Amino acid sequence: MLTLWKAIGIIVGVVVMFGIQTCLSDDQINRASFPKGFVFGTASSAYQYEGAVNEDGRGKTIWDTFSHTFGKILDFSNGDVTDDHYHRYKEDIQLIKDMGMDAYRFSIAWSRIFPNGTGQINQAGIDHYNNLIDALLEKGIEPYVTLYHWDLPQALHDKYGGWLDRQIIEDFAVYAETCIEKFGDRVKNWITFNEPHTFAVQGYDVGLQAPGRCSILLHVFCKEGNSAVEPYTVAHHTLLSHAKVADIYRKKYKEKQLIPPTTLKQHKELKIFSLAGMDDGNSPFTSIKDALKDEKRIRYFNGYLLNLLAAIRDDGCNVKGYFAWSLMDNWEWAAGFSSRFGLYYVDYKNNLTRYAKDSVQWFKKFLIQTY
Ligand SMILES: *[C@@H]1O[C@H](CO)[C@@H](O)[C@H](O)[C@H]1NC(C)=O
Ligand SMILES: *[C@@H]1O[C@H](CO)[C@@H](O)[C@H](O)[C@H]1NC(C)=O
Repeated sequence: MLTLWKAIGIIVGVVVMFGIQTCLSDDQINRASFPKGFVFGTASSAYQYEGAVNEDGRGKTIWDTFSHTFGKILDFSNGDVTDDHYHRYKEDIQLIKDMGMDAYRFSIAWSRIFPNGTGQINQAGIDHYNNLIDALLEKGIEPYVTLYHWDLPQALHDKYGGWLDRQIIEDFAVYAETCIEKFGDRVKNWITFNEPHTFAVQGYDVGLQAPGRCSILLHVFCKEGNSAVEPYTVAHHTLLSHAKVADIYRKKYKEKQLIPPTTLKQHKELKIFSLAGMDDGNSPFTSIKDALKDEKRIRYFNGYLLNLLAAIRDDGCNVKGYFAWSLMDNWEWAAGFSSRFGLYYVDYKNNLTRYAKDSVQWFKKFLIQTY
């Protein structure tokens, strides 16, 4: 099983919502403190960033439905526009480049490739991600692509309950293989699922995220669902989907690759990529000027990276990269725009203008100036 995981290069994604206590002292660290080739990147996800929900043939997702259901989102917002990353990706790639990052993790919206989840391919969706990938490579930034960051095509949910039915394994595999066929000549790092535990629990146990199913207190909170059964069914089908795609990838796309003898030591072959970031906990009334002074986030990054380094050096963990969540403030699911995780601040009241927070300067220094 571990080799399958390795084959797909899965990212172990843990978004830590709140600051962690630093176990080590505030030593000065920078890129050179990490093993050679260690990857530093930042990350995003389609529904939280793209907007353009009705453009170029994109199909509806369960998050479009959920965010437009009254009372589900803290600030009554939705992801219709969010950061407009769909149109501004070129400017945003420059922001990544400015920090000296090596990589960018983004997700493909399944419903841009297959508007109905299955069936006909939407060429405009393929074109968009081709352009994004090419623009990244042009700037020397390595793409890391998440296939599923929670935005299930609504059509599959309507047709058979989405993750609740075994058919999803087949449909996910077709979608995944389509992406690998179309983009695999340039994309070498694939992540099947972002935080599978979260969408199983939040979506089907407590119902706080799409599709909002649960049976807590006799369906006071959710119209439909079964919290005792559904999250487990969803998790089961997710694991089987991951295994199927990993298997296809290994057999069909990595066939000719020489497998080194160290593969037998499976634990050494499990490459870990970490994803973590922090919400700054500011109120909606915090001024832009104050929000840009994100000392707390800098302490968080410093502490997190110190501990990641300790895991590599002291415990022999095979950590190969770190992605800072997130490139810029974005639509944070049920918290809407009330929660800001960005390295860059986004002014939602003024044409979505991006401003560098102090974290950006910190990363610049960490990645470029001291190296
Ligand atoms: C999606 O399904 C709808 C309804 O069945 C259909 O009208 C439409 O043509 C389908 N779109 C694609 C791209 O397959
Ligand atoms: C808003 O920002 C976009 C992207 O930078 C730019 O193309 C557009 O002209 C701006 N619109 C206005 C009204 O300033």
